[in-house]
Amino acid sequence: MAQTAALAVPRDGVYSDQVIRLFSLAAVIYGVVGMLVGVIIAAELAWPELNMGIPYISYGRLRPLHTNAVIFAFGGCTLFATSYHVVQRTCQTRLFAPALAMFTFLGWNLVIILAVITLPLGITQGKEYAELEWPIDILIAVVWVSYAIVFFGTIGIRKVRHIYVANWFFGAFIIAVALLHIVNSAAIPVSLTKSYSAYAGVQDAMVQWWYGHNAVGFFLTAGFLGIMYYFIPKQAGRPVYSYRLSIVHFWALIFTYMWAGPHHLHYTALPDWAQSVGMVFSLVLLAPSWGGMINGIMTLSGAWHKLRDDPILKFLIVSLSFYGMSTFEGPMMSIKTVNALSHYTDWTVGHVHSGALGWVGLISMGALYYLIPRLFGRAQMYSVKAIETHFWIATVGIVLYIAAMWIAGVMQGLMWRAVNPDGTLVYTFVESVKATYPYYVVRLVGGLLYLSGMLIMLWNTAMTAMSGQAVEARIPTVNATSANA
Ligand code: HEM
Ligand code: HEM
Repeated sequence: MAQTAALAVPRDGVYSDQVIRLFSLAAVIYGVVGMLVGVIIAAELAWPELNMGIPYISYGRLRPLHTNAVIFAFGGCTLFATSYHVVQRTCQTRLFAPALAMFTFLGWNLVIILAVITLPLGITQGKEYAELEWPIDILIAVVWVSYAIVFFGTIGIRKVRHIYVANWFFGAFIIAVALLHIVNSAAIPVSLTKSYSAYAGVQDAMVQWWYGHNAVGFFLTAGFLGIMYYFIPKQAGRPVYSYRLSIVHFWALIFTYMWAGPHHLHYTALPDWAQSVGMVFSLVLLAPSWGGMINGIMTLSGAWHKLRDDPILKFLIVSLSFYGMSTFEGPMMSIKTVNALSHYTDWTVGHVHSGALGWVGLISMGALYYLIPRLFGRAQMYSVKAIETHFWIATVGIVLYIAAMWIAGVMQGLMWRAVNPDGTLVYTFVESVKATYPYYVVRLVGGLLYLSGMLIMLWNTAMTAMSGQAVEARIPTVNATSANA
């Protein structure tokens, strides 16, 4: 116990690594749990009777548990771990207020436990990605403000003048998420477990999708771009391809994302001009997104051969290919006429998971594989072969998942809009559900493969942790101002 306390508040000259270790291990465990719930709901979509009539495991209650677990527990813990690592290394100082950093770990885990209890009980605000009820929302706000204090406090006490670009992305992610969460969660409580949104009608929908889209833009994108800008140069042993481009990338992305939310509300009661603004900004978003992707991939120029035998680099670089794919697809889907076909169909779910499994999942895994051995004083993970196996299983899983959803989605859209010469519908809705069945089974197989990869990672992590020893890295005495810090 005494030793844990000593590690939590490190000595001078030593980075605060204990909190990073805890967040990294939590990320791997929550990855397995969140993806397992994803597999269960994928199976329930193919065979609805699997819920056995039990409300707690019904699709409607497990779906938000899945999204919260993968985004906020798996993705969130990865972002805490990597941002705490990167900000210390690039600022060459230990965390500002390490005890507060430890509080963010405990507080965030309490939020996750409360989500695991309340969501299956059906306690929800009914807002997607913001389901948790008001007492938990207050706890999230407290943890997030503490996170901001630790992160920006560390920037404030930095030993190098320059603020490396990864920290800009992490910083924007932290500020934007605070803003989004506080504004969208404004509600009037009527009991401990029930509240009503402070907004009404179409305003409520607009605020929700301003939040929802920027949750994608800042939680699932800006934070992970922070990871990209540090871990790809480190793993490749090369400087960022263009530092100037990274700055343009940052400002263009941050400015554009905020306006794109209305593309989630095409053909609704939202004024038409607002929908058009959302569409135009989504199209513009292609440019900064691809600028960032190119900057990441080109960082490897001159070192392409490393991709052949470095499985961690494979995770990091292939994640960028999926990022490029989903940020091309997204702007296309935001065009009103395309959205008229894709909206409400599984095409959206395919788009989501090419971003979620391909971009967020793979880059998280790559960064965690980089971090974990270092946190346990080992030169590399217990089994490098297992990392390679994980990479291939996950990639095949993603391809099966998203290809199945694309085909199913386009098919559904075409079936719903097919009309006979007399104006009646060619297909009933249930016929489209029946036609989707085989694709749901293929998606389940893809999901099972992706989950298997994550289980391999859990085993590899446990073996690395058990065969290594927790170590605290020392702060170097020389100054550096780049990713090589
Ligand atoms: C084993 C891996 C996974 C499987 C099998 C899986 C499965 C599913 C299923 C069946 C749905 C519901 C789709 C529907 O409503 O029709 C879903 C939704 C969702 N999942 Fe996953 N998932 C997995 C991993 C992930 C990961 C890693 C993330 C994020 C990092 C993620 C993010 C989401 C999101 C955001 C939604 C909501 C999509 C929407 O509203 O359109 N999933 N997932
Ligand atoms: C340039 C970038 C992007 C644009 C313009 C964009 C655009 C879109 C559009 C038009 C939709 C469909 C809205 C609807 O019909 O309901 C959508 C849904 C979605 N996208 Fe993207 N997308 C982008 C990138 C990404 C990335 C990288 C991810 C994941 C990491 C992602 C995650 C999602 C999610 C979770 C949804 C489903 C929201 C819901 O209905 O629950 N998007 N996106």
